[in-house]
Amino acid sequence: MISSWKHVKNNQNNPVVYYSVNSENQTGIIKISREKYLNALNNIVIKDLGTALGIMENDKEIRSVIIMGDGDRAFVAGADIKEFKNFKKEEAYHLSQHGKESLFRKIQKLKKPVIAAINGYALGGGLELALSCHIRVSSDNAKLGFPECTLGIIPGYNGTQMLPKTIGLGNALEMILTGKTINSQEAHRMGLVNHCVPADALLEKCFEITKSFNKTSPEALCSAIKATSAFFLREGEEIESKEFSELFETSNFKEGVSAFLEKRKSDFK
Ligand code: COA
Repeated sequence: MISSWKHVKNNQNNPVVYYSVNSENQTGIIKISREKYLNALNNIVIKDLGTALGIMENDKEIRSVIIMGDGDRAFVAGADIKEFKNFKKEEAYHLSQHGKESLFRKIQKLKKPVIAAINGYALGGGLELALSCHIRVSSDNAKLGFPECTLGIIPGYNGTQMLPKTIGLGNALEMILTGKTINSQEAHRMGLVNHCVPADALLEKCFEITKSFNKTSPEALCSAIKATSAFFLREGEEIESKEFSELFETSNFKEGVSAFLEKRKSDFK
């Protein structure tokens, strides 16, 4: 189904993003590969994902893209908490803005449809990554959620903007304010994912969708993506980055992150 994988070269000499092409369906596949850390999004993954998307966009043979996580445990379990645990608010603001510019908006605006194949955990930045994709398909063992408030922060890669637009304000606020993780069936019921399928049928379902794209005009798809993405509110995105970064100065954020790393319950004051 998938030809051999190539990896995005990075200056760390540590491949974390792989890509391949399924010629039959004219589909490019991007795989995030930090399985040991449940594919958490660190700096290098964000940069290399941006590079892989550029390769996909410029390849005339490719009509659509699938993003998936390596292994059967996680799509992406969030932004890399270890990387930002000591950030000051200026660094947190940069993290949020830079991620949006270099990756999340890039996916939303890609000239080809992008499908998130959610195999396992899609938490925090992982769910934001999935929400940036145009279509989401999840395996029946997937778990989705925004645990940020339990860490003392809020989603910072447009989750606060995308989630209410996808599942409605009430459902979105409940997910964000409680930090509760939902299962694949619940996500499907809410409209958070388009399809929920058995884990071993995940890619097959994605290819079934990409095959349908091939019966359409590429220019029409590009325009449809542009038009449907036009509702994003820059003002909301800016407020999100500001609020996200200011929380890095609170003692509750330090407590939330320490509790996660020490594998204990947090004690918020
Ligand atoms: N950032 C950094 N490292 C992460 C991570 C993240 N978002 N999610 C998981 N990891 C790491 C863990 O620290 C662990 O590393 P270690 O072996 O060095 O301790 C490894 O991935 C495996 O995760 P672990 O927590 O041991 O697996 P688990 O099955 O017990 O729990 C989760 C799985 C997803 C429930 C748990 O990892 C988790 O809560 N992750 C954080 C989710 C989150 O808050 N995301 C939003 C961040 S803004």
